[in-house]
Amino acid sequence: MAKILVLESSAHLEKSFSRKLVAEFVELLKAQNRGHEFVFRDLAHDPIPVVDSTIVDIIRTPPDKLTDEQRQKTALSEQLIAELKDADYVVIGAGMYNRNVPAALKAWIDQVVRIGMTFTVGENGLEGLLKGKPVLAVLSRGGDYSERESIDWQKPYLEHILGLIGLDVRFAVMEGALMPEEKRDANLARAREAIREAAAKLA
Ligand SMILES: Cc1cc2nc3c(=O)[nH]c(=O)nc-3n(C[C@H](O)[C@H](O)[C@H](O)COP(=O)(O)O)c2cc1C
Repeated sequence: MAKILVLESSAHLEKSFSRKLVAEFVELLKAQNRGHEFVFRDLAHDPIPVVDSTIVDIIRTPPDKLTDEQRQKTALSEQLIAELKDADYVVIGAGMYNRNVPAALKAWIDQVVRIGMTFTVGENGLEGLLKGKPVLAVLSRGGDYSERESIDWQKPYLEHILGLIGLDVRFAVMEGALMPEEKRDANLARAREAIREAAAKLA
């Protein structure tokens, strides 16, 4: 049995490839009948507020240096971090928006990447506190970036920033979601294979 946190961030609810693939992954896990528990959070449908002037300094301060009043202002951030810490496995669905992740997902990242809570500064620099927690990032992009990595800031960004807090990120990538049907279907088959492999590892 594993606790699985599922985060969605595509603004398309019906025709999203990342949502379709994440849903297939969840179905594969349910079919394993291992009693996995799922927590779903839809960052596009139910957005996380961006870090604004009321919390910007608080959220960058180690929690043990905050007053009770300041901590109340970051209650949402603490809830999101608790959800993340509680999960044994995290699934993140994301389309590519302007070469990067959707702002809905970035807003979540800004709330969970926190000094003293998910990373610390040690002798060797930044150190992640969620060491080794597995993440499957299910990505979809309109074009094919497999040979255009230098303009892909979606996949490397997620690998870097989630790695910074210690998460162990694997990917299932749907390239060319907006390409002609034949190419798109071959890409979808490849992404499905990655989903199946990831699910099999949890069996
Ligand atoms: C606001 C916006 C920006 C986008 N920017 C890019 C982009 O920079 N490169 C790209 O290949 N596709 C881009 N697309 C297309 C999406 O990446 C593609 O439709 C993808 O499948 C979206 O994920 P989804 O199917 O899970 O919704 C963009 C789509 C939107 C809505």
